[in-house]
Amino acid sequence: MLKRLEELRAEATDLFGSASSENELEELRVRFLGRKSELNQMSRGLGGMDPSERKAVGQAVNALKKDLGAMLAAAQDRLAGGGGKPGLDLTLPGRRPWVGRRHPLMRTLARLEEIFTLLGFEVALGPHIEDDFHNFEALNIPADHPARDMHDTFYVEGDRLLRTHTSPVQIRTMMSRKPPIRIIAPGRVYRNETPDASHSAEFYQLEGLYVDRGVKFGELKGVLTRFLRELYGDDVAVRLRPGFFPFTEPSAEIDVECRVCHGKGCSVCKQTGWVELLGAGMVDPRVFRAVGYDPDEISGYAFGLGVDRICMMETGLDDIRLLMENDLRLLRQI
Ligand code: DAH
Repeated sequence: MLKRLEELRAEATDLFGSASSENELEELRVRFLGRKSELNQMSRGLGGMDPSERKAVGQAVNALKKDLGAMLAAAQDRLAGGGGKPGLDLTLPGRRPWVGRRHPLMRTLARLEEIFTLLGFEVALGPHIEDDFHNFEALNIPADHPARDMHDTFYVEGDRLLRTHTSPVQIRTMMSRKPPIRIIAPGRVYRNETPDASHSAEFYQLEGLYVDRGVKFGELKGVLTRFLRELYGDDVAVRLRPGFFPFTEPSAEIDVECRVCHGKGCSVCKQTGWVELLGAGMVDPRVFRAVGYDPDEISGYAFGLGVDRICMMETGLDDIRLLMENDLRLLRQI
């Protein structure tokens, strides 16, 4: 009888191991473990057995029952794709696990920081709640200056306000250090604007500043051209136009050939083929005086760029609000 039990075990190991469908498994279950199975009959016959034999056979019968149960469960598992769930439909499309990743804006910022770091700039940060002096006055935007109208400011209380640009970080850096200074200041800025496709009350800028003795406009042009080529490739077309900012003189606005239509004209570049990315210029002597530098000894350039616009061109989004809404259905696609 013990020999027969071993034969049954070998046979079952084979058959459970190769069963290839739920039906087949069910047949095997009935055959080896069912009420009319050989094993069950042996089990029932134990009572009429010689007590000297009964113990050993009884133990062997029970051990095999247990092992057959395990073989069945293992086979069910295997057929279910190892997931441990019998009856799993392997033909259903899988559910993709949601993997977290950086927000597109943070990706763009990281890339910009990387390029400027390679060009020798270090990152400087400043407070988001600023005061009138750092945000306006020291940047040559006095109280009655028309440029204040363009900076629709959120006032906090007294002369405290949410910074309207990252330029105040220039002021803070110059006041706390001596030249040479070569920094970028990335970060969020705030303006009291009615949001639409191209305006948001919160957006990102990256400010740059280089001050030392004898810094010339040509260096500004060279560094920013180098930056744009790193960002968009060596063949990108770049142009400088005269501009105006209270804190730089002379000032320039810098455009790149539209990355969406490559200069042919599209909705992103408003059919001009060019997209304005940067404001820049030579630091105004009045700014140097405000931070206690002597403009006859020190010169430098500054620039500011709109991070959101770069990110939008890269992701193909045509509405700046989408970058702030954090709708995961959208973010997962870009
Ligand atoms: N602060 C300017 C703005 O918010 C951007 C800017 C323009 C910064 C020219 C600069 C600069 O440093 O030189 O629109």
